[in-house]
Amino acid sequence: KIWIVDFGSQYTQLITRKSRELGYSSEIITLKECRELFANDQLPDALVLSGGPQSVFEDENDYSFIFNHQDLPILGICYGMQILGKFFEGNVERGTIGEYGHATIEFTKGHEFESCPDNINVWMSHSDHISIVPKDFEVAIKSGNGLIAGIEHKKRKILGLQFHPEVEHSDHGKDILNHFYKNIAKLNADWNASEMLEEATEMVRAIGDKKVLCAFSGGVDSLVAAMLSHRVLGDNLYCFFVDHGLLRPQDLGHIKLLQEKLPLNIEIIDVKDLFLSKLKGLSDPEEKRKMIGNTFIEVFEKKVHEFEESHGINFDYLLQGTLYPDVIESISPHEEDGKSVTIKSHHNVGGLPERMKLKLLEPLRHLFKDEVRKLGEELSLEHNWVYRHPFPGPGLGIRILGEIFPESITKVQESDQILFEELHRSGLYESTWQALTVLLPIKTVGVKGDSRAYEEVICLRMVNSSDGMTATWSDMPRDFLSKVSSRITNEVKGVTRVVYDITSKPPGTIEWE
Ligand code: XMP
Repeated sequence: KIWIVDFGSQYTQLITRKSRELGYSSEIITLKECRELFANDQLPDALVLSGGPQSVFEDENDYSFIFNHQDLPILGICYGMQILGKFFEGNVERGTIGEYGHATIEFTKGHEFESCPDNINVWMSHSDHISIVPKDFEVAIKSGNGLIAGIEHKKRKILGLQFHPEVEHSDHGKDILNHFYKNIAKLNADWNASEMLEEATEMVRAIGDKKVLCAFSGGVDSLVAAMLSHRVLGDNLYCFFVDHGLLRPQDLGHIKLLQEKLPLNIEIIDVKDLFLSKLKGLSDPEEKRKMIGNTFIEVFEKKVHEFEESHGINFDYLLQGTLYPDVIESISPHEEDGKSVTIKSHHNVGGLPERMKLKLLEPLRHLFKDEVRKLGEELSLEHNWVYRHPFPGPGLGIRILGEIFPESITKVQESDQILFEELHRSGLYESTWQALTVLLPIKTVGVKGDSRAYEEVICLRMVNSSDGMTATWSDMPRDFLSKVSSRITNEVKGVTRVVYDITSKPPGTIEWE
């Protein structure tokens, strides 16, 4: 395994992703964790020191516990390279102007990288730089303006890169990383879906013979988490699905299909009326979200309690489909003071674990979304289940702006149905990451047939994203948009106008509330 020590660069996640895509198992750790693991004689196959916003001039850490390991392959990226420069007695110069953006680099003679041409364009983002090569190192890469862009140890497996090979803006970035892993560190690229499945399954095996509860949503994360856990837990796993009435017809249909086709115990809890009555009179987005979240917990807790009573069992664990980005987000790279890592609870079941004294089982906590999809395929789940668009826990509650009425739920449900029928019909479903319709609480004037109409507006939103953290609006074909618009205005009662949201995230979020 490769450990990536996080010094706080915004790109650290990308190093992990790219390494895994190349077939190398990798994980992000803090410097503190790294020190503890080394102290327990646990070493990685290679260590990457990430970039970071600070300057080595203010860094008081003693890195000899890492560098004293003569055989350990080490890659220092940006800040990580300056740590190398300082430790091995080169000269790091404090930056005055810095270098941000594209730069060309050139490999020096004898330091050619596999699959890389002589000159390439890369992404720089630093202010300090190494001005004198450290002892026993050679300049491996120079930048167009003559600065040292890469250094390699003459005898040991150590490479320093001033630029960021992990970002998309760096041409041949993956080849550069691969050159380090394959030709310098001499590692085997053997990380694949079956290995991933084995590691995730091991986490489930480790809990032993226990009763496990899952707040099942039918989305890819909870589905994959439940299916891989079921292989170990069998009937010790119970899945509850809360139908809060803010679902689309496709969601309930999907759950019923999964109930029928999978060996999972899935129970649907129908509490539509309760949610509708609780939401009555609420129009503020945060109040609505809180009410939906709290009611969800209330219903879930009551159901679990009744179930435990009637079955004479006690649940020990709550299975959650938490993914790596949530785990990483909660790791602060500067936690040198010994604070423990806190993990965000899933927003749908937040508050649940503490009150119900359930331990968390999170077998996907080391995986990115695209890896979870690969895992789903490895588990032989149907393609369209695994590539299903995300759907938020609060459902249509955050797609009906302002107060929620039964008629408004119907309008969003019907327009969503049309949007997805057309996405499937035109083969465009997978060309967008998420698609949705929002009901705007305004009326506009129009003509329907021969008469004047004064009715509401549906907004279509389609975005491309990899993890929902950032997104760009999807440039969908005109014919498709036109078809959807005309079907919605013709078929959905009370809607005369359709608009398309062309806002990226940031500044707009994907959902409207
Ligand atoms: P935003 O609107 O924050 O959405 O840009 C990013 C992604 O997260 C989904 N989302 C949620 N998912 N519970 C969820 O399970 C929530 O409360 C929630 N809010 C937003 C959203 O659909 C998008 O995929």
